[in-house]
Amino acid sequence: MEDPGLDALFALAETVRERAHAPYSRFLVGAAIEAETGERFVGCNVENIAYPQGQCAEAGAIAAMVAGGARRIRRIVILGGPAESGLIRCAPCGGCRQRIAEFADKSTEIWFGPARLALTRHSMEGLLPAAFESLE
Ligand code: THU
Repeated sequence: MEDPGLDALFALAETVRERAHAPYSRFLVGAAIEAETGERFVGCNVENIAYPQGQCAEAGAIAAMVAGGARRIRRIVILGGPAESGLIRCAPCGGCRQRIAEFADKSTEIWFGPARLALTRHSMEGLLPAAFESLE
């Protein structure tokens, strides 16, 4: 289906994925967000020789969005795969599902897949059912 906005996010995620710093896993991930403002923000995974200090692509894109002044994710595209062999279907990890949920609502679209035409659309509730909300 034609969707220029999704095409743009896919292209941004693909480009930023190439910039990932992933010398330890050799697994490159890119994420591109369309915020409620219409602005787009990107992030890639940034690993560290002290492994737990590495950061996921989604975390980088969310940090860029927040620093840019936006607060809601309308759409996010996540692309990942081994440096040597290109994209596979890369679903967000559990921690990133929680990170996305912080800035998502019922209409937030989460897309991932191994190619533009193989992207599948997911909801926050589908990816993180019965999420923690608050103690109230
Ligand atoms: N990674 C992400 O960037 N996002 C995810 O949702 C899953 C995993 C990164 C972390 C690490 O740098 C590499 O992929 C391999 O796990």
